[in-house]
Amino acid sequence: MISKKIAALINEQIAKEQYAAQYYLSMSAWFSAKDLDGIANYFRVQSKEELLHADKFFDYLADVDSEIILNEIPKPPHKFSDAAEVFKKALEHEKSVTKSIFNILKNANDENDFATATFLQWFVNEQVEEEATASLMLAKIKMVSDNPSALYLFDQELGQRTLNTTI
Ligand code: FEO
Repeated sequence: MISKKIAALINEQIAKEQYAAQYYLSMSAWFSAKDLDGIANYFRVQSKEELLHADKFFDYLADVDSEIILNEIPKPPHKFSDAAEVFKKALEHEKSVTKSIFNILKNANDENDFATATFLQWFVNEQVEEEATASLMLAKIKMVSDNPSALYLFDQELGQRTLNTTI
């Protein structure tokens, strides 16, 4: 049902989502080591959400009877200069994921692959949310990072995040 090219791009996207999960887990570990367990929780949940994204692409390939080929996941960075840098990297990463999804969509459109284009619409919307949240969090961490009381409250706030498994 879908071309080899589209299938290859989606197989690559599975690895990209899994890499994102590893990257956010690494960010979670960084905050955990700094005793900012709420922010660590935020990135831990984000990491799990990325695995759900990978699953969604995996299931799509299975649904259209395409071969699923799992790729190697590179080691993510684990050193960051400060908290704001972590959130900046998270936003940059989301932008790169958006670009990658747009690229699959462009190829699907070029091939009149309506099934894949429709499937990808969920991710187009999701990436709008992902970038907006990452951008907001970056703005917030910049506001609070030099103020221990404010940082404490921000950490408490992010500790409330739970995984939405209905995606
Ligand atoms: Fe799977 Fe955060 O994009």
